[in-house]
Amino acid sequence: MKIGSPTCNPSLLEPKDLFRKIATRVKNIRDEFPILQRKVRGKPLVYLDNAATTQKPRCVLEAISRYYAEDNANIHRGVHFLSERATRAYEGSRDRVKAFINAGENREIIFTRSTTEAINLVANAYGRKNLGPGDAVLVTGLEHHSNIVPWQMICEEKGARLEVVPITDAGEVPLDAFEARLTEKTKIAALTHMSNALGTINPVKEMVAAAHRQDIPVVVDGAQAIAHLKVDVRDLDCDFYAFSAHKVYGPTGIGVLYGKRHLLEAMPPYQGGGDMIASVTFEKTTYNAVPHKFEAGTPNISGAIGLEKALDFVDSIGHEALLAHEEDLLAYAVERVSAVPDVRLIGTASRRGSILSFVLDGVHPHDIGTLMDLEGIALRVGHHCAQPVMERFGIPATARASFAVYNTREEVDTLVRGILKVREAFQK
Ligand code: ALA
Repeated sequence: MKIGSPTCNPSLLEPKDLFRKIATRVKNIRDEFPILQRKVRGKPLVYLDNAATTQKPRCVLEAISRYYAEDNANIHRGVHFLSERATRAYEGSRDRVKAFINAGENREIIFTRSTTEAINLVANAYGRKNLGPGDAVLVTGLEHHSNIVPWQMICEEKGARLEVVPITDAGEVPLDAFEARLTEKTKIAALTHMSNALGTINPVKEMVAAAHRQDIPVVVDGAQAIAHLKVDVRDLDCDFYAFSAHKVYGPTGIGVLYGKRHLLEAMPPYQGGGDMIASVTFEKTTYNAVPHKFEAGTPNISGAIGLEKALDFVDSIGHEALLAHEEDLLAYAVERVSAVPDVRLIGTASRRGSILSFVLDGVHPHDIGTLMDLEGIALRVGHHCAQPVMERFGIPATARASFAVYNTREEVDTLVRGILKVREAFQK
């Protein structure tokens, strides 16, 4: 058996068909997710918290379990059979990620713990070297905490400033406002591809081009976009791109930082330890080449194997079909949810991914979440780790339904019935 051989249901591997046939395929797709068959509080699970984490298809679960049952060993360290297999599987996943996001070389792919760690890596390694007193880091008003706090921390350490491009009432970042904030003081820009709180999709390619006109590198937070959009880092021309496996049907505990090779090579290491060294004496350590320079210690080997399978799963559906289905779900949900009296949608950008944030007049989102849970509906309620976005809209929190490829219009109907029940419970 070759580690990494696809185990997805072959029915998913048929030639890409578009929205016309997706309704029948969704049933097959759902069958690949054991958790979607379970009940919650006596009701069929309606899982609408995909922006927090997606569920995992059988092929991911099986690949991880098979790795531990048959091939578990440490990598890059052994000459024995299992170590060679584990190393091949881990490095094979790197190749897979490279192809999935169309990076130029596999050494531009660094495995991290998460999107958050990937951004911290850039803030620490690139930021510590390139930021100085009076310099600026530019972010947008859409960012979640992972793309704010690491920059605040390094700015504080280096005497630099964090600058913010404000968002509009629709939850958009106007391109001209972004461009106007780029100055000779700006040393790096960090922006989300798709907002986790509002679903807004930023015009990243145009934003990168604007920053590059002033020689400013750009970090893109792809935590949400990776599960919905076809990401092509060379087409975007971004300098860094970060994402987590668990938001794209893969396991938790592993993420990816893509970086242009010349930038990665010029950056100092982020963490010290095994694997990231070329040689160590008590007097001096020299470092390994990228990507290993940034992967200190035993990495998440099973996570990389699971991630590879998750990307196979996405490709077996095809981005066009996936997007067509999710766009249909969002349009249907927007129409149905906004028709409920006292509901206000938060975030109405013209380009949005499948995220619907809303408030119900006079009802705290936490109460919405609790009552929905009794119906078996999993939503996220709260500030979504994006407190500045909430502040911009003058609210403490929203209820958020976020859709994945396995969700259905029937589940949107259940969501709407749930909201109506919440209204009733609050005697509206
Ligand atoms: N960033 C994740 C979310 O939006 C955790 O829920």
